[in-house]
Amino acid sequence: MNYFEKWERSILASYSTPSIVLVKGSGVKVIDEHGKEYLDFLAGIAVNSLGHAHPAIVKAVTKQVETLGHVSNLAINKPSVDLAMKLLDLLQMPGGRIFFCNSGAEANEAAFKLARAYKPESEMVSVEGGFHGRTMGALSVTGQPEKQEPFKPLLSNVRFAKMNDATSIDSAINPKTGGIWLESIQGEAGVIPATAEFISASFRAAEQNNALIVMDEVQTGIARTGNWFGFEKFGVKPHLVPLAKGLGGGIPIGALAVQDSLVEAIKPGGHGTTFGGNPIGAAAGLAVIETIEQLDLMKHVQLAEVKIRELLENEHGVVEVRGSGLLLGVVLSGNYAKLVEENARQNGLIVNAVRPNVIRLAPPLIVTMDEIKEGMDVLRNAIIKSMEVVS
Ligand SMILES: Cc1ncc(COP(=O)(O)O)c(C=O)c1O
Repeated sequence: MNYFEKWERSILASYSTPSIVLVKGSGVKVIDEHGKEYLDFLAGIAVNSLGHAHPAIVKAVTKQVETLGHVSNLAINKPSVDLAMKLLDLLQMPGGRIFFCNSGAEANEAAFKLARAYKPESEMVSVEGGFHGRTMGALSVTGQPEKQEPFKPLLSNVRFAKMNDATSIDSAINPKTGGIWLESIQGEAGVIPATAEFISASFRAAEQNNALIVMDEVQTGIARTGNWFGFEKFGVKPHLVPLAKGLGGGIPIGALAVQDSLVEAIKPGGHGTTFGGNPIGAAAGLAVIETIEQLDLMKHVQLAEVKIRELLENEHGVVEVRGSGLLLGVVLSGNYAKLVEENARQNGLIVNAVRPNVIRLAPPLIVTMDEIKEGMDVLRNAIIKSMEVVS
């Protein structure tokens, strides 16, 4: 039996059967079970910030697992405290606190509970197309009806505003609103950047109605967009910031950053999770952040974006390249993104058809200019080949 058959016999079909079995990775390259090499321009969906098997992560995790692998929240472990302090520093949240968990959905769940605890019985506002996770609370604020429909009833009293429509968000927010869910770039909706006008209208209405802004940085955070966090370019100070994905560089970890004014909203016993703040995940998070600083990867990400835009913009079949840093959406001239994804894979490049007409690029932050050139050559050819098929 091959691994596709084994997968279909054992893994719950909440995902379609994948078309590739990966067995090894190093840097931006991954290798499948037949020894075929690919450039990984998806990085486990914006997770492997330092690529595969980065020595800094291998060293930090190995050392930590040899020393102390898990203690529960009944004891302090130093890596989690060090990581929390580092995150508060990067987020510029003096006096704030971090709640650690294991995934992006959990970080959003924690934000939901915190918003309710802060403003009892409050209602939530989110944005059409937004994505915050698959658990029931996170799904309730996810603005994608097809993902919600089979699981209704969800948590009630969530209103959805239209993305980048300042009037719509303004009228969705009222004195009963507790939390407002925003993303600086909607990754899952097809890499759609928020406008400055939309973000400032949301913050203004939040302030007028004593509501909290939950700025979900699960996909955009930890240098992915060329800043530590995607919200920085708007010059705003969100109350709650869910993080996950790139923070652990491939080791599962989630976090909710809580602004100083709110830390009293949750009391001991108010929320928790066994693995939250696990020292192995925290050691990985510290290694990721230190390496980004040491290699000045933020600057590199900005230059990499320029290079990718140069190589794709105005090319055949490419209508637009949108997004920031190394979270980019290549908007195609038609609904043939799946074909492009397949053709690219056959030719050694992993990308993702995030929408029928959009290819998402989210390579490791360490991707070199040569790898970008090589990857974009494959992508351009894949676009041309796919256009021929559909025309
Ligand atoms: C913005 C955002 N929030 C939350 C999530 C959910 O994270 P996870 O899959 O780790 O639960 C995702 C995942 O894609 C995301 O992109």
